[in-house]
Amino acid sequence: MKIIGYLLGSIVLLLAACLAFFHFKGVPQYEYAPPEHVKTLQVTPDSARLARGAAIGAMHCMECHAAADGKLVGKPMNDLPPMFGKINTLNITQDPVHGIGAWTDGELYYFLRTGIHKDGHWSPPFMPKYSLMADEDLHSVIAWLRSDDPRLAPDSREYPPNRFNLFIKTLSNILFKAPPLPEKPIVIPDASNKIAFGKYVADNLSNCYMCHSGDILKANALHPEQSFGYYGGGTEMRNEAGEPVFSANLTMDKETGLGNWTEQQFIEAVRFGKKPDGGMLSRPMAPHSMLTDEEVSAIFAYLKTVPVIKNPVQRYQASVER
Ligand code: HEC
Ligand code: HEC
Repeated sequence: MKIIGYLLGSIVLLLAACLAFFHFKGVPQYEYAPPEHVKTLQVTPDSARLARGAAIGAMHCMECHAAADGKLVGKPMNDLPPMFGKINTLNITQDPVHGIGAWTDGELYYFLRTGIHKDGHWSPPFMPKYSLMADEDLHSVIAWLRSDDPRLAPDSREYPPNRFNLFIKTLSNILFKAPPLPEKPIVIPDASNKIAFGKYVADNLSNCYMCHSGDILKANALHPEQSFGYYGGGTEMRNEAGEPVFSANLTMDKETGLGNWTEQQFIEAVRFGKKPDGGMLSRPMAPHSMLTDEEVSAIFAYLKTVPVIKNPVQRYQASVER
């Protein structure tokens, strides 16, 4: 008994020591080490890039960074499960002090790929890392961030820096890490290659797999198709009222997935949030109206090639009329 007692005691002590270590160490720092071509990057804005950047910005950046008045000054992330604590997104307007007006194109590129800031501090996964987005698309985002879009005009409103809780500090030391820069430029597949193009739009550009696989913590950000339960759905998420909403199974299983859906139904659901039965999809599934019919049709073609998973997902039912 005594030996077991000592053994258990030491395990508890060891665990406590580890947690204390992570508490004081905090979220890890990284070396800020962009290669020369990133350091000196200067994106030339042209009208195609500005339009594309605004569309990508609407799909990603606006969702998290836009306050109620539309300005990208940051907001509380109310839809996170409680164990992550309270986290705010930050000001990414062109304000040189409170926003990103003083960042270079290279600093933005490096940060959007890796999450590493110029001073070496690292943003944990609440700020996504766009490791697989094509260089051209990332350049478009940067061009848009510099544009005269009124939502990005300098604004001095600001949340204090986030203070991450022990759970996030621990995960950031053992599970999450900064992804590497791509080894060679990432190119958008030609739209005539519908399946490859659909995979690009789904996995690299829109991150559909992150929410629609089996577990967001087991999503593989560098090889999405190796994610646990790839496109089989069932991840528990929250809508803005804090209610649980489970992501849908997007594989072509006829009973639990999209096996009986037509392409038109898929396009209506993805672009406008419309369910085939006439209802509306709940957040966090946002309407993706910035994607074109052609892009969404390509996603559908790609999903038809994804291994089918039978996974009955408990679907969200609006409990109260809102
Ligand atoms: C899922 C939510 C989410 C999305 C989508 C998102 N961000 Fe963020 N972003 C955050 C959070 C949270 C932080 C704060 C991270 C921290 O405290 O380290 C952040 C921080 C940043 C910062 C650092 C700001 C600073 O002053 O330190 C920049 C720059 C940024 N985001 C740009 C973008 C851009 C550009 C996009 C779109 C391509 C985007 N973000 C999409 C959540 C998001
Ligand atoms: C932030 C997480 C998130 C992202 C990103 C996301 N989805 Fe969803 N999606 C959900 C959730 C949660 C539901 C379930 C909503 C509900 O039950 O009302 C859903 C539902 C759907 C449905 C309805 C399926 C059905 O059986 O009713 C389709 C289709 C869909 N998503 C496709 C996509 C595509 C394609 C993308 C990428 C362009 C995508 N989603 C990106 C979370 C997400």
